[in-house]
Amino acid sequence: MANILDRFKESNEQARDYSTLPKLKIGIIGTGWIAEAHAASYKRCPDIEVVAAADLVPGKAEAFCKAQGLEGVRCYPDHQSMLDNEELDAVSVCTYNRTHAECTIAALKKGVHVLCEKPMSVTLEEALEMRKAEKESGKILSIGFQPRLDANMQMIKKIVESGELGQVYYIQTGGGRRRGIPTPYGTSFIEDKTAGIGALGDIGCYSLDMVLNAIGYPKPLTVSGYKSAFFGTQPSYYPEHPEYAEKFSVDDFAAAFVRLEGGIILDFRIAWAMNLDTPGDTIILGTKGGLRIPSTECWNGTVGGPMKIYHEVAGQAQVETEIPIIDSDTNELFYKKIRSFLDAVRFGGKAPVPTEQIIYNQAIIDGIRRSAEAGAEITLDIPEL
Ligand SMILES: NC(=O)c1ccc[n+]([C@@H]2O[C@H](COP(=O)([O-])OP(=O)(O)OC[C@H]3O[C@@H](n4cnc5c(N)ncnc54)[C@H](O)[C@@H]3O)[C@@H](O)[C@H]2O)c1
Repeated sequence: MANILDRFKESNEQARDYSTLPKLKIGIIGTGWIAEAHAASYKRCPDIEVVAAADLVPGKAEAFCKAQGLEGVRCYPDHQSMLDNEELDAVSVCTYNRTHAECTIAALKKGVHVLCEKPMSVTLEEALEMRKAEKESGKILSIGFQPRLDANMQMIKKIVESGELGQVYYIQTGGGRRRGIPTPYGTSFIEDKTAGIGALGDIGCYSLDMVLNAIGYPKPLTVSGYKSAFFGTQPSYYPEHPEYAEKFSVDDFAAAFVRLEGGIILDFRIAWAMNLDTPGDTIILGTKGGLRIPSTECWNGTVGGPMKIYHEVAGQAQVETEIPIIDSDTNELFYKKIRSFLDAVRFGGKAPVPTEQIIYNQAIIDGIRRSAEAGAEITLDIPEL
């Protein structure tokens, strides 16, 4: 598990000649905003052909293919009719959170590899069902956490793995925006029936993946969670669409205190909207050093900089080492996400972002929601699959 990022690196950095390989047949399920990034990346891969697309909204898949310059693509009114009528090698599940599990499981049952967008699902039960379907199918299921491919994120993991921090015992992470409830394309992110979870699932999952991936994804044990929705429910928040306030039925802020296996504490907070610019930097405290990862203004899976390690030299001098931030291109990260998934499909590797890890990410998110609703700390019960 520790070498997953190295495998990413190899698969992306090896100069492979894909042009002579037989083409993999790809389908895109859900043709909204993120599907554009998938389509753009697929277009850069000479060894695939996007042959099918599906969306519940009549005409949306057709309009999407036209806008993306994808020719000869057969369009369907839902995922199941696409899967029933096509012989696909792999699909991208780019639907809103509520249908991730349904679409992913249906594809795996048809023997199709799946790249599913983040968050993995809404509930832990769904995530477990997805993992079960993955195992039964013997196909690859990877989750769309492209920030993992960012050089800065990889540096954070390398710092922890190098032992520079000693034994990690406390992590504070999260992020947020002063005003940033995502509604540019309508209400699919803010309604329970489509998104299921708000800031917690949308951007919270990235903060969790950043630190949990760095420390090797220990199992979460207990969660004391809080969530609120003081901003999204106000008509004045949306001057042009005051009617969105009534539809808002997810969280716009969440916080939690999580105990992880190995005696590690995770202190977490995430906001789509709050009366502050950032809820604080990410910090990883270890017995030999501490790492500070400055929060970015608009958290979307990015790292602010420079990062700093606070450590001691010769048991006396307290010094700081600055880690400069490496420029990163989001489109390249999207491409690497697609390419590493395709490489795993083609060459029989492991999923680049494996469900055995992301189940824990989802368990924390689900635990925060349940604990907040119960008003008490809960113990997580995550069966081994
Ligand atoms: N990795 C990233 O950087 C990133 C960025 C944005 C969004 N996302 C994730 O991508 C997902 C989609 O986000 P979006 O902004 O594109 O949402 P969106 O609402 O714009 O698009 C989702 C589309 O899926 C369709 N859909 C839902 N269920 C379907 C089904 N069963 N069959 C066919 N089509 C179906 C909807 O009709 C809609 O058109 C979300 O889970 C979000 O968290 C990831």
